[in-house]
Amino acid sequence: MAAGKGTRLKSQLPKVLHEVGGKPLLEHVIATAVRVVPAADVYAIIGYEAERVRAATEHTGIKYVLQAEQRGTGHALMAAQKALVHHDHVIVLSGDAPLITPETIGHLRNFHLEEQAAMTLLTADLDNPTGYGRVVRKNPRSADVRAIVEEKSASAVQKKIHEINSGFYVFDAKELYRNIGKLSTTNVHSEYYLTDMAEVLRGAQQRVVAWKTANAYEVLGGNTRAELADIDHYLRMTKCRRLMADGVTVFYPATCVIDADVQIAPDSVIEPYVQLLGKTRIGTACRVRSYSVIRDSEIGDGVIIRPGCVMEGARIANGAVIGPYSHLRPGSEIGEGAHVGNFVETKKIRLGKGSKANHLTYLGDAEIGAGVNIGAGTITCNYDGVHKHKTVIADGVFIGSDSTLVAPVRVGKGAYVGAASCITDDVPENGLAIGRARQVVKEGWASARKAAKGK
Ligand code: UD1
Ligand code: CA
Repeated sequence: MAAGKGTRLKSQLPKVLHEVGGKPLLEHVIATAVRVVPAADVYAIIGYEAERVRAATEHTGIKYVLQAEQRGTGHALMAAQKALVHHDHVIVLSGDAPLITPETIGHLRNFHLEEQAAMTLLTADLDNPTGYGRVVRKNPRSADVRAIVEEKSASAVQKKIHEINSGFYVFDAKELYRNIGKLSTTNVHSEYYLTDMAEVLRGAQQRVVAWKTANAYEVLGGNTRAELADIDHYLRMTKCRRLMADGVTVFYPATCVIDADVQIAPDSVIEPYVQLLGKTRIGTACRVRSYSVIRDSEIGDGVIIRPGCVMEGARIANGAVIGPYSHLRPGSEIGEGAHVGNFVETKKIRLGKGSKANHLTYLGDAEIGAGVNIGAGTITCNYDGVHKHKTVIADGVFIGSDSTLVAPVRVGKGAYVGAASCITDDVPENGLAIGRARQVVKEGWASARKAAKGK
């Protein structure tokens, strides 16, 4: 079920697309669902901003059902009747509860089949059950459920029940659809509650049972920003613990944001306040210093990322040193042992083995060989206002500080460029290019000026 708006989030974005652990809520739920049944048997019931939700999850290969008007969780299952009625059993998951595991769904399904129930609900005991539907059992030791009472309709006594309805169910599809028409909207929200199927099915002499999980955190739903923060924290800490178990040092893990798909090899050190996002991969014996934000980048072994670096779609070979304060944009490939330093921005470049660009530089659309020294303040002028052009700098070149290289341009192997040059023509191998105004010295000029002013 993923059709709701998520009113409590006060957001333009549909609830199920809000992210925890770096991925939309719904994507977590789908990832779990497809580990239980084939993707072709997974349906997302979508409604509010349906096309946006579909577009964000289409890569998972699941199917969709449209609930054009959202009139409650019971109504969501009514909308899915055509798609589901021919199956024997239907597992219902909540698109906003991302911590559920395939193991727990498996237990729930097995219990449902063993008990030959028409409806089986997953429950948990929560210290603070506020906001959740409460489970009223026939008696405390019985699996049989009398009813599910929503928070808003619960009596003072019922509110004291700590066993909550998780929003995960297994239904006998025939019984569900034989009886779903009996749901009514006579409740506080004037909605069709799926939870009311407990009483409806009992009334039809069907079995309704509950299976309680000991992993209460698995049922947490992200209905509010505070609940999303709790779930996100849980996922981040779980990820950090897994990394630490695998030999990675994470200092002050509560300050780090590491996405689920990030890989880090043993003996690497992640300092406080680091964000590692998307599909980032980090080798062994690296050190990522504080305040770096790294997305979808591949980092080799023994690489040092000094404080304050920003990277996206970069590849860094073994032993390179980056930062502090470097900005590596997509397509930056930094060679083995190379250095990219203070306030250097790179985009779509190859920097060869052992080459250095240490200070205040922009390198874009450039192919730079090995053993090259890029002086402070060098700029590749890659853009003529319409098109991008390439700068080629061959092995062993020395670019003097404050040079501008107007692309397309090529500096041959072993050549030198004098400081503050504006290079517009190719420089031949082993040559020297100087492209700047010759210095003029006027001796005594200042004293003459002062003397003239004194008059
Ligand atoms: C629901 C349960 C509650 C349970 C809780 C667990 C009902 C009436 N209540 O409450 O007993 O404790 O989940 O998390 O079911 N949705 C649709 N179409 C709709 C309405 C909702 O697809 O018309 C989807 C939502 O997008 C969401 C899910 O169903 O993913 C649950 O809806 P939500 O409004 O969050 O229900 P809760 O109030 O949390
Ligand atoms: Ca919910």
